Amino acid sequence: MESSFGLLLVLLTLTIIHIVQAQDQQGFISLDCGLPPNETSPYKENRTGLLFSSDATFIQSGKTGRVQANQERKFLKPYRTLRYFPEGIRNCYNLSVFKERKYLIRAYFLYGNYDGQNTAPVFDLYLGPNLWAKIDLQDENGTWEEILHIPTSNSLQICLVKTGMATPLISSLVIRPMRTGRYTTESGSLKTYKRFYFNKSGSGLLYSKDVYDRIWMPRFEDEWTQISTALRVYNKNGYDPPDDALKNAATPTNASAPLTIEWVSENLDDQYYFYAHYAEIQDLQANDTREFNFLLNGQKLYMPSPEVPKKLRLTTFEGMSPITCNGWECNLQLIRTKRSTLPPLLNALEVYTVIQFPQLETDESDVVAMKNISASYGLSRINWQGDPCFPEQLRWDALDCSNTNISTPPRITSLNLSSSRLNGTIATAIQSLTQLETLDLSNNNLTGGVPEFLGKMKSLSVINLSGNNLNGSIPQALRKKRLKLYLEGNPRLIKRPKEKIPVAIVASVPVAIVASVVIVVIFLVLRKRKSTIVQGIPLPPRTSTENDSSFANKKSKRFTYSEVVQMTNDFQRVLGKGGFGMVYHGTVKGSEQVAVKVSQLSTQGYKQFKAEVDLLLRVHHTNLVSLVGYCHEGNHLALIYEFLPNGDLKQHLSGKGGKSIINWSTRLRIALEAALGPY
Ligand SMILES: *[C@@H]1O[C@H](CO)[C@@H](O)[C@H](O)[C@H]1NC(C)=O
Ligand SMILES: *[C@@H]1O[C@H](CO)[C@@H](O)[C@H](O)[C@H]1NC(C)=O
Ligand SMILES: *[C@@H]1O[C@H](CO)[C@@H](O)[C@H](O)[C@H]1NC(C)=O
Ligand SMILES: *[C@@H]1O[C@H](CO)[C@@H](O)[C@H](O)[C@H]1NC(C)=O
Ligand SMILES: *[C@@H]1O[C@H](CO)[C@@H](O)[C@H](O)[C@H]1NC(C)=O
Ligand SMILES: *[C@@H]1O[C@H](CO)[C@@H](O)[C@H](O)[C@H]1NC(C)=O
Ligand SMILES: *[C@@H]1O[C@H](CO)[C@@H](O)[C@H](O)[C@H]1NC(C)=O
Ligand SMILES: *[C@@H]1O[C@H](CO)[C@@H](O)[C@H](O)[C@H]1NC(C)=O
Ligand SMILES: *[C@@H]1O[C@H](CO)[C@@H](O)[C@H](O)[C@H]1NC(C)=O
Ligand SMILES: *[C@@H]1O[C@H](CO)[C@@H](O)[C@H](O)[C@H]1NC(C)=O
Ligand SMILES: *[C@@H]1O[C@H](CO)[C@@H](O)[C@H](O)[C@H]1NC(C)=O
Ligand SMILES: *[C@@H]1O[C@H](CO)[C@@H](O)[C@H](O)[C@H]1NC(C)=O
Repeated sequence: MESSFGLLLVLLTLTIIHIVQAQDQQGFISLDCGLPPNETSPYKENRTGLLFSSDATFIQSGKTGRVQANQERKFLKPYRTLRYFPEGIRNCYNLSVFKERKYLIRAYFLYGNYDGQNTAPVFDLYLGPNLWAKIDLQDENGTWEEILHIPTSNSLQICLVKTGMATPLISSLVIRPMRTGRYTTESGSLKTYKRFYFNKSGSGLLYSKDVYDRIWMPRFEDEWTQISTALRVYNKNGYDPPDDALKNAATPTNASAPLTIEWVSENLDDQYYFYAHYAEIQDLQANDTREFNFLLNGQKLYMPSPEVPKKLRLTTFEGMSPITCNGWECNLQLIRTKRSTLPPLLNALEVYTVIQFPQLETDESDVVAMKNISASYGLSRINWQGDPCFPEQLRWDALDCSNTNISTPPRITSLNLSSSRLNGTIATAIQSLTQLETLDLSNNNLTGGVPEFLGKMKSLSVINLSGNNLNGSIPQALRKKRLKLYLEGNPRLIKRPKEKIPVAIVASVPVAIVASVVIVVIFLVLRKRKSTIVQGIPLPPRTSTENDSSFANKKSKRFTYSEVVQMTNDFQRVLGKGGFGMVYHGTVKGSEQVAVKVSQLSTQGYKQFKAEVDLLLRVHHTNLVSLVGYCHEGNHLALIYEFLPNGDLKQHLSGKGGKSIINWSTRLRIALEAALGPY
């Protein structure tokens, strides 16, 4: 469309200015980007009667600019100012639309040497998480991009993305609701490639001549003859091209030759849809017929019968499936049938390429929740614009997302607002991030209690609330087996769990000793402080008979011996040797890594085994690895622990095995906290 841009934008002095009483502009969004705040908004654009508004309420970032003074008069008012984006990589407009409705979306870009640098920028244009176009502003008259698109949510994110040093800019953005059921595609959206009406003279047909604000440019070839009518052609077939476009038509001057329209593909595999608009505008004699077929690159396009234009009534030929051209050349022909006495005719033609927007937008409820969280804490991060998850290289910082499959909406799986100067309470909107696995709100100034809902979020397995100013007690719901909860550094919080040290306590020999010490201490503390600390946690039964009753009811945690063999891949990888037996690496549910402690039955071993199972199934402490399950089958005994990949405590104490050495204050803290026990 670039070639026609000059004609469109340039305010031709001879153009008769139609101040059309604005037709129904319902649902239209017409933005004059960068309109200064001291100028009237909205204002009526003289040539079209369209009401243009400032873009200020649709975008939070960017600066306003104006084309060089000596160029201003060349362009219509909406293109004289612009918004440019020196900060951030991606800057987005957020426009309110109706999902499942078809829209025409058009964006204009005019450099106009607004910055005096005389360097036309190059950048990307995105629609939500998908690339829409690469914008290159070499053309001094600017460029534009237009698509027919059905949004998949109620907001439309149109983003300008830096690709190098150049500063992206935009001059105008317009959105027009279209009629549904027209311009349908098998898949993808339509990118405007050409839109012509066939007339030897004339200028672009704009709104309000076109009810949808499509732009029709005149075109004519030497080998054609123009036919015209003064009568109105009935055009209401849902495509509704402008009346003026239908008053004229092209026919081949050589009445037996086809009417040929050619174009060159930009990409070899481009797919096209075309819409050919025609109506009989000649007075036919009783013995005259006009009948023709459509051919693409010599192949007849399937139609049940030849086309016969109706008198003063529009017909639109629409492709039901996309077409590709053989090679670069596309050649569309209208060929008269044998019995036709008149050559083919065509009034107007539209050609679109198929554009795919394959990456689905991030789940809408996650986006709403993130907006709420951002607003609740007054966060204004420059990169929190557009789709939170995609494209991946522009993902909002602080987030991680599920990345399974582009045809399922991405979900937010991790939120890290550590050291973000958050104050107030923990935002309830967090509970709407239902796929969240990791939540890090550490080192902020958060106040209030630890909310109950965190314990009800099924996917959540790591919560770091340390270094805040939380108070109250820890809700029961958070005392879950698989949950890693970090709460230290909240002085007003009652029963504070200890910081987790990145150490696999069970995974090797000396550590087993430490672990035993810890366990013993826990036992003592549990007994001593039973009434205050065990709130909600059932105490291990005091009986210590040799029967299985104490863990017989924990079927869900019990594995068979063959499952143990399978999970350790036949005891292939040894992690270490504990007091109770060898420790092997294993995997459960295909991905969860575990450490498997295996023993043969002996009285001594069995007692120790049972004590450990009973205790560990009940006690959860951030310094203790949690028990995933156990096996007790015949004389096979095994304890299956969560696997911590950072190595064992001994390595951390000694600095061996390439591990960092724990400093003395941390050592002291570990010892103290171990002695204090859980909570
Ligand atoms: C820009 O438009 C003007 C006026 O129509 C024209 O003279 C000029 O050649 C155009 N420039 C380009 C690069 O198309
Ligand atoms: C708006 O303000 C700018 C300077 O800030 C000035 O040049 C311009 O004339 C003003 N426009 C109107 C319509 O007042
Ligand atoms: C529109 O027309 C009016 C009256 O002819 C004129 O005063 C105004 O400056 C024009 N506006 C633009 C943006 O050209
Ligand atoms: C976009 O705007 C709509 C309403 O206009 C709002 O509900 C939505 O949260 C906004 N989305 C973003 C990502 O700003
Ligand atoms: C089409 O061309 C005729 C003359 O050939 C002209 O009078 C008419 O205004 C043109 N139509 C449009 C819409 O420009
Ligand atoms: C007219 O077209 C026919 C069919 O394409 C061709 O055979 C014939 O030579 C053409 N006549 C002229 C005068 O070009
Ligand atoms: C149709 O009839 C007119 C006279 O009414 C005649 O001049 C013309 O040659 C006829 N055309 C054909 C194709 O028979
Ligand atoms: C966040 O959502 C809650 C309801 O879930 C609402 O009460 C609150 O006003 C929202 N906050 C913001 C800043 O949107
Ligand atoms: C993506 O997910 C959908 C639905 O879950 C499934 O039908 C499709 O096969 C998946 N595609 C790929 C490439 O995995
Ligand atoms: C959160 O980010 C901070 C620094 O930005 C990092 O130290 C911390 O490990 C992150 N938390 C998680 C759970 O990844
Ligand atoms: C958070 O801090 C800001 C500024 O420091 C303050 O205006 C706001 O009232 C605080 N919010 C709460 C809930 O304390
Ligand atoms: C918490 O707020 C106090 C002042 O209200 C401030 O001095 C301190 O730096 C804040 N802490 C964090 C982690 O932002």
